[in-house]
Amino acid sequence: MLMEKSLSKVSHLKKYLCQKAIGMDKQIQGFSKKSKAEKIDWVAAQFFHDAQAAKALLATYWNTDEALQRLHDEFTENTLTNFYLPLGVAPNFLINGHNYVLPMAIEESSVVAAACKAAKFWVDRGGFRAEVIGVEKVGQVHFTFDGDPKSLVDFYHQIKSSLLAACAPLTKNMEQRGGGILHMELVDKTTDLENYYQLHLTFRTADAMGANFINSCLEQIANSLLAEAENYAPFKATGQSLEVIMSILSNYVPNCRVRAEVRCPKSDLGTHDGLTSEQFADKFIRAVAIAKAEPYRAVTHNKGIMNGIDAVVLATGNDFRAVEAGVHAFASRHGRYTSLSDAYYEGDDFVFSIELPLALGTVGGLTSLHPLVKWSLELLGNPNAEELMQIVAVAGLAQNFAAVHSLVSSGIQKGHMKMHLLNILNQFKASEKQKEKALTFFTHEKVSHQAVRNFLEQNTGV
Ligand code: MEV
Repeated sequence: MLMEKSLSKVSHLKKYLCQKAIGMDKQIQGFSKKSKAEKIDWVAAQFFHDAQAAKALLATYWNTDEALQRLHDEFTENTLTNFYLPLGVAPNFLINGHNYVLPMAIEESSVVAAACKAAKFWVDRGGFRAEVIGVEKVGQVHFTFDGDPKSLVDFYHQIKSSLLAACAPLTKNMEQRGGGILHMELVDKTTDLENYYQLHLTFRTADAMGANFINSCLEQIANSLLAEAENYAPFKATGQSLEVIMSILSNYVPNCRVRAEVRCPKSDLGTHDGLTSEQFADKFIRAVAIAKAEPYRAVTHNKGIMNGIDAVVLATGNDFRAVEAGVHAFASRHGRYTSLSDAYYEGDDFVFSIELPLALGTVGGLTSLHPLVKWSLELLGNPNAEELMQIVAVAGLAQNFAAVHSLVSSGIQKGHMKMHLLNILNQFKASEKQKEKALTFFTHEKVSHQAVRNFLEQNTGV
């Protein structure tokens, strides 16, 4: 008996050690049902050396205004605290003759400063021009059909209007706001994938980004499609069957597109780190040509554009993942990843432009919920979706101008490290006095981790 007991203890211990070795002790059932305090306790106890310190840090980032904290808690699931990003502003953006101060939510040092610099540079040269090229959104019902493609086409023509009619209760409000379903077509995709077809729809969603509207319409259409197919006598008679696989909007929206540009006589560009206006313009155009020709460079070039775009997209409560996915697909639309921007001469003018898809909203989603999003939209004069598309495209163009400007003149590190100086000082836990002194010292000195370390060692008593 004793022997049996100790054997069972050993096997329990073995099982426990085995589970621990593969991390099973760090799994949990019903986590989402626990209270916030319980979730924090469990996470802190399981994953942190100092559970108390881990919990204290989360608490520091809570908002003491309970209602405000609850609002943030409810944006998503399993919220433990808030994650801060700085919200900066970039003034002096002259866009289509109007002055804007752009809200930018971004952590990367130098992005806001670069936007400010570009805005200031172009405000004296006529500012930015922007225009919306299209506002068409896309959604698809993906389905398979194992029968004769011709009979599917006949079926589709017979039921098309009833599919659309079934959406009427969903589209009514949107139609009053100038939106709705624009077009629907049956697409045969069987050369790409056996038995694969789709209903490809285009939409207008007024000032909403429109994801919920589009997805609701698509699911309604998919249900009606299925019901009609099940009752369609020729399919029943021949045993041909249709299966809906999924219904979802596409984040690739090449016809929801905006263009922005700056231009000025090339002789008005001014001198830059020893380059004359004309030399600067030539080198700038050459740098953009490289980004157009070379995908490795294009990715980084476009990343610089997205620094500006994402920052404004985030501050205005829009979905930056959707924007990113769509923009990069657009950058590859000709089969090779390329630059989103272009630079060229038109007569004596230097022209720098950008064209990209942006599905943005200024109503719905977070726009009326998140207090800082509301603030940011008010800062922009409560733009409609098309105005916001133009502002965001300009943010991307400005950021790209600042980056390429630095790259072809002083190099990127000079400005970058200057802006990074405070981060380095904070990493070394510099005192406020040391920081103040360092900012003056490094105005004319090259910033590097080693240089900052040396400076702090020589200024310990400050
Ligand atoms: C850094 O965040 C962005 C840049 O690399 C963009 C570029 O190279 O054009 C500076």
